[in-house]
Amino acid sequence: KKVVLAYSGGLDTSVILKWLQDQYGAEVVTFTADLGQGEELEPARKKAEAAGVKDIFIEDLREEFVRDFVFPMVRANAVYEGLYLLGTSIARPLISKRLVEIAHETGADAVAHGATGKGNDQVRFELGVYALDPDLRVIAPWREWDLNSRTKLIAYAEQHGIQVAKDKRGEAPFSVDANLWHTSSEGKVLENPAEEASDIVFQRTVDPVDAPDTPEYVTISFERGDATAVNGKALSPAMLLTELNELGRKHGIGRLDLVENRFVGMKSRGIYETPGGTILMAAHRGIEQLTLDRGAAHLKDELMPKYAKLLYEGFWFSPEREMLQAAIDKSQEFVTGDVRLKLYKGSANVVGRSSDHTLYSEAHVTFEEDDVYDQKDAEGFIRLNALRLQLMARRKRRLGRN
Ligand code: ARG
Ligand code: SIN
Repeated sequence: KKVVLAYSGGLDTSVILKWLQDQYGAEVVTFTADLGQGEELEPARKKAEAAGVKDIFIEDLREEFVRDFVFPMVRANAVYEGLYLLGTSIARPLISKRLVEIAHETGADAVAHGATGKGNDQVRFELGVYALDPDLRVIAPWREWDLNSRTKLIAYAEQHGIQVAKDKRGEAPFSVDANLWHTSSEGKVLENPAEEASDIVFQRTVDPVDAPDTPEYVTISFERGDATAVNGKALSPAMLLTELNELGRKHGIGRLDLVENRFVGMKSRGIYETPGGTILMAAHRGIEQLTLDRGAAHLKDELMPKYAKLLYEGFWFSPEREMLQAAIDKSQEFVTGDVRLKLYKGSANVVGRSSDHTLYSEAHVTFEEDDVYDQKDAEGFIRLNALRLQLMARRKRRLGRN
């Protein structure tokens, strides 16, 4: 039996690695991805080697992550429940995809992950895996074992000679998931939604109160809905997001405290930081304002919550998400141009946009005299639009209802 494990090198997945070897007598293959979470990956190799792992996969997936997952989501303006920018949701399909590919490469018959049985992540990993290979088995140790307290986990680790860092011995104050798009913190000290999160929770943005007192301007260029340059400098997707993250960090942009509805039915409270993503989403809206037709824009806005929900609930690899994506991508044909934003103490506001493909017509909209628009046309336009409203109003009067 061979199992590919999504392995971070942290305490939880180190225990899982050992547990799979013992419980299943499995040969474990580890897969550790750099999605821009800002952690050293080499320690994971050392630990996997120490645990006797022969096949160790450590991969920098940052460009693929941003190009093939984050950018398509940005084209959709995807936001879950009005606020959540889906940073954890969007990373899972890529991890599932690599788990499946590595299973095929190594001849493994199962994959394993460290998500609990209470959350969204288990659903996302597993729907992704089953969509890509219906016959692979998925092992979710958190749903099987009885190591459901920190004490038991640490006891197991110590019994089996797994190194536990000194600072990991105590209860971790909250659970973190991070990548190039966002950092999320949930659980433990954050569980009471009535209580404000303390400063220690925030890891990649300064407190807006401490951000610079002078605003900073940034220009983002788009081509067909994707950002391609910052302040005139062309950048790859991951490098561009890295650059925006730096600006967002400095100006305290993209903090969110949210109570959301998990797919499994419960509500959870999370603290999110999406610094560059918040800037990018605002900028994308800015360039669409100029270049998207109203009909296309409004249809996109109707489809968006559906798209966001599919992504949140783990249906990235589904025909309906792909259908929506095709429609969204088609809409981006002319979404090309520059957006200028003002970054200041936690806010990222669009203050200017320009495009060769603009639909904005100063000739039409001017308050001064023009020769392209006949104001008299509006009279019949309003009369016909009012017709049914007038018919109903007359009926009301006839029937004596007010
Ligand atoms: N609630 C967020 C989501 O479902 C974040 C989940 C964080 N995941 C984690 N393993 N800590 O997308
Ligand atoms: C987990 O349960 O592993 C994290 C939270 C979530 O997946 O929603």
